[in-house]
Formats: sequence, C-alpha cells, structure tokens
Amino acid sequence: MTETTQNAGEAPGEQAVEERRISDYPTREGRFGVYGGAYVPETLVFALEELIETYRSIRENEQFWAELRELLRTWVGRPTPLYGANGLTRHIRSRSGKDKGAKIWLKREDLAHTGAHKINNALGQAMLAVKMGKTRIIAETGAGQHGVATATACAHLGLACDIYMGSEDARRQKLNVVRMQMLGARVIEVDSGSRTLKDATNEAMRDWMGSVETTHYIIGSVVGPHPFPAIVREFQSVIGREAMAQSLRAMGQMPDVIVACVGGGSNAAGIFYPMIEEEIRMIGVEAGGESSDAGRHAAPLSLGSPGILHGSMSYVLQDESGQTSEAHSCSAGLDYPGVGPEHSFWKDQGRVEYCAVTDQQALDAFLLLSRTEGIVPALETSHAIAKAVELAGEESKDANILVNLSGRGDKDVEEALRLMGGEVKPSEMRRVQRNRRKDKKRDGDRNAGKSQPDGKES
Ligand SMILES: Cc1ncc(COP(=O)(O)O)c(C=O)c1O
Repeated sequence: MTETTQNAGEAPGEQAVEERRISDYPTREGRFGVYGGAYVPETLVFALEELIETYRSIRENEQFWAELRELLRTWVGRPTPLYGANGLTRHIRSRSGKDKGAKIWLKREDLAHTGAHKINNALGQAMLAVKMGKTRIIAETGAGQHGVATATACAHLGLACDIYMGSEDARRQKLNVVRMQMLGARVIEVDSGSRTLKDATNEAMRDWMGSVETTHYIIGSVVGPHPFPAIVREFQSVIGREAMAQSLRAMGQMPDVIVACVGGGSNAAGIFYPMIEEEIRMIGVEAGGESSDAGRHAAPLSLGSPGILHGSMSYVLQDESGQTSEAHSCSAGLDYPGVGPEHSFWKDQGRVEYCAVTDQQALDAFLLLSRTEGIVPALETSHAIAKAVELAGEESKDANILVNLSGRGDKDVEEALRLMGGEVKPSEMRRVQRNRRKDKKRDGDRNAGKSQPDGKES
C-alpha cells in the first residue's frame, strides 16, 4: 500500500510521495506508521482543523518565521552553544580502559531563556494562537518548565494564561509554581489520580473542550492528537539544526551518537529529527524509576505496549484491560505513562534505540555533571547524562557523543536534596585530585635541584 505523506500544514494532495523516507512522516492523517492520528471528541475536531489550517498558512508565511527567528535570537538567546565537556570527559577517561572514553558534547538548552528547551515550542505556539485570534492560553505542565515557558510567552504577547499542574508536581517543583504566578499565570493544581502530568493533561483537555472558541491549548511535548506532534517537532527542530552546523564546525564532522532524555519526547525529537536521515546512532532515555514493576517507572517505550492516550496512538503504560497505569519517576517532566507517536514509530523502525535509566543513576549523574563541569542539570536531563557517561566509557576516545542538555537543575535542587536523604557530601573527586597535587608538589620540593640517576633533572 502506498500512503501519501504530508507535513502538518500541507493540503491534501499537495504532496504524494511514493517512496517515503523516515523524515517524510506524518501522513496527511497525522500518522507515523500505525501511530499518531486524532482520537478526540467531536467538540475538538473543529479546533484541530482550525489549527491545521492556520499552521498551513503560516508555513509559507516568511514574515512569521522571520519574526520567530528574531525573537529566538534576541529574547530566547538562540543559538544555544555547543559545549565540549572536557571535565566530564576527563573523569570518564580516568575510569575507562586504554583508548576508551568518548568525548562528550553538550547542546546547552539549559541556557535558553527560562532554562529549558520548552520555550522554543511555547513561543512558536503562542504566536500561532495570536494568528488564530485566541486571547487565552492553557497548558499542562509536569516539571513546571513548560508551564514557565508558556507563562513567559503569554506575558510577552499579552495573552491570558492558565496552567494545569498535578499537586504532587506542584510540591516537588515549587520554585516553578511561584515563577508562573510571578509571570501573571494562574496555576490550577490537579488532585485527581497520581496528581502528576497525566492528570494535569486530562484536566487541560477537559478545559479546552469547553473553551475552544477563545482558547488555544499549547501542548508541551510531541504528544496529543494530530497536528500537535508535528507542530511541536517543527518548533523544537531548531535544536537539531543548530547542533548539526555547530558539530560540523567544532568536531569537523557529525556526532557519532546523540543522546536525549524522553518524557513526551520533544527535546529528543527536536535534536534527532533534523539528523534522522544521517548515519548517526540515536538513543532516547526514558525514566526507569525504582524498578521495572508496574507503577514504579515511566518507560512506555521500554516496558509499555501500543494504545491510545490523550488523543493519539503510541506506546503507553497500561494494564491488560487497557487502563492507563500510573507512572513514577524522580523527575516530574518524565513522569508520564505515554510518549510521542513519532518515537513509537522510530522504535518500531529500529531507527532510534530506547533505554531506561533509574532514579538513582539519574541522581548520581546530576551530581557528577555539577561537580565535573559546574553545570547543574535538570533531573530529566540527568537521565541522558547517565546514559552518555556509561556509553562514553565503552566507546573509543575518538568518538563524539552529543547530549541534549535539555534544562537546568535549579528547580530540582530541593527535591534532589530530599532524595539524597537531606545531606550532600562534599566532592571526593576533588579531594583526591587535590591530595594528588599536594603529593606531587611535595615530591617536587624534595627532588628540587637533585639530578636523576640518568642525569635528567626531575
Ligand atoms: C528540562 C526538561 N527536559 C526534558 C523534559 C521532558 O520533556 P520532553 O520529553 O518533551 O522533552 C522536561 C519536561 O518537563 C524538562 O523540563
């Protein structure tokens, strides 16, 4: 069977592709293979059609993209740097076998305005909402980063803003709750279910059904009904486009491996998609939580099965009767039982590898990056760091591993302290290094002026 393919804004019949490449998805129906689609009640069909229509019109609108590019540059702070993580790489090499220890590079989305990649999508969609004549924005948030990004974009564009957030997430991401309020948004805490991202998304969808006339729902990841996964991917692809050009300049080649954490999958899709046709190994890292037991992790691609959640078909954590299971992760932004349909497709195609990293491994990586680089990563991002460190130890020294540093960890400092039992020990690494330096100096003083047996000065 040949399907026609279409990007989110194209009119039916505009593009009929017989031989479809992996980058040519979604189809005109919003399908990535069997995944994706739009499983929504009647009330939302009109809103989704309006969104497809507006998106189609702005895809060709050079003025819209010029305006977005200018704001990304002057207000968001793009391009974010590509940084060669020499401290972390040295640490890995000191512990790996001869000739092992790949070089780690970080795409610094933590340096984007508001501290994470989420702003790329929030700004783009808020500008779309203005084009559609909407005056109110709603959004769901887990870690609070998407909520903060949305509240920030709304403050900039003069839009009313309501953010849904599970009360458990509001507890562990208190700093971001206050930030959203400071920016003028209303934070609506959700007390149903596990009081996390899934429940916040349910409530936001419910709100949208009753308010579509005036309200645009800015979904924060590559999830939800068509056209959201394609739209969010496009706004986040700026990460991968920049990273590709920066890699060529800094490494003289494309990276050998790209690693990104996966909640819904937007930072991963953003860095993978522009390079998806290249011969680069790509790894998405899910939250392995405490164990692989049901309810103790948030790894639908690793441990779930295909099902429908929040308007699209994708891998989902569910029981035998199809009821969505609870998820768990130490990081609020990965604590979600579903994932984007395109990742489900990439997994089945064997194009991207997916694995899971536990809470403890992520927490260790959180401290490791802080102490070897002076960069405190988000707990979500720490999952990708943990995997990259493991991989770098196995790869040869001349390999380059690019990690999407999706966000900064200020929001997580209190929660990380709690998870560490309320006490953070000083860095052993630095003490060992300092003692080594002291020993060297002592030996140096002792040998000063003496000749070595072979006649060389020490
Ligand atoms: C810093 C950071 N990274 C990653 C994620 C996960 O989202 P996604 O998989 O859509 O990138 C979040 C979600 O809140 C986040 O705040």
